[in-house]
Amino acid sequence: MLQLAVLASGNGSNFQAILDKIGEGHLQAQVRLLLCNKSNAYALERAKAAGIPSLFLDPADFVDADGKPDRPSFDMAMVQAIKAAGADTVALAGYMRLLTSGFLEAFAGRVINIHPAILPSFAGLRGAADAQAYGVTITGCTVHLVDEKVDHGAIIIQAAVPSIQGESLEELKNRIHAVEHRIYPQALQWFAEGRLYEEGRTIRLKAAVPEKECIISDGSWLVQPPLERGF
Ligand code: GRF
Repeated sequence: MLQLAVLASGNGSNFQAILDKIGEGHLQAQVRLLLCNKSNAYALERAKAAGIPSLFLDPADFVDADGKPDRPSFDMAMVQAIKAAGADTVALAGYMRLLTSGFLEAFAGRVINIHPAILPSFAGLRGAADAQAYGVTITGCTVHLVDEKVDHGAIIIQAAVPSIQGESLEELKNRIHAVEHRIYPQALQWFAEGRLYEEGRTIRLKAAVPEKECIISDGSWLVQPPLERGF
C-alpha cells in the first residue's frame, strides 16, 4: 500500500482523481497528507471534504537574512511534515514550485509528477497553452519521475490527445485533464505494485496483464503503456 503525500497549488482535480480511485478500490494507496503552498488552493477544500489531513505552508514564512525566498528551508519543512504524516511517496498534483535537491534526496526515486503535454515538448508552467499556441495537432499528458530539472525525469506513461482546430484553450485543457485523471492514478498503482523499473532513463513496466484487459485508446486519445482494468 502506497503511503502518499500529495502536493498541490491550485484546483486539485488530479488529487481528487487519486482519492476517487482509492475510494473505488483500484488504487492501493492512502493519502496521509495534502500539502499546499497557497492558502486559497481549492485542493485544501477537497482534502477537508474527504477527511484527509492537510497543511498549508506559507513560503513567505521561509526567507533568508536578505528577505529572499529560502527554498531549502521551505522544502525541509515539507519533508518533516510528510515524514511525520507517515508518507514515503510524493505525488505532485499541480504543484507550481521547483523542488530542491534536499527534498528529492529525502524521497529518492519516489517523487512523481503529471504534466499537461507530451514531454520533452512544452515543459514548464504552461504546457497545454504553449502546445496550442505553437500549433501542434497532437498534444497530451505525461506522468514522470521528478528530478532537479523542470519536467525532466524518466517517463512512466504518456497519453496523446488531439488539439482540435478552433477549440478554446479551456476546451483543450479539459480534454487533457480528463485523461490525466486516468493515467495518474494508473501510474501510482503501478508504483504501488512495484511493477516499474528503470533501464537508464527508460521506465519499464513488469508483467503487463493480458492485452484484453487493457485500454490503449477510446478513439479520442491514445495511451502507452495501456491502461489496465479500473483506470
Ligand atoms: C494539471 O494539468 C497538471 O498536469 C499540471 O497542473 C495541472 C493541475 O491541475 N501539473 P489540477 O490542480 O490537478 O486540476
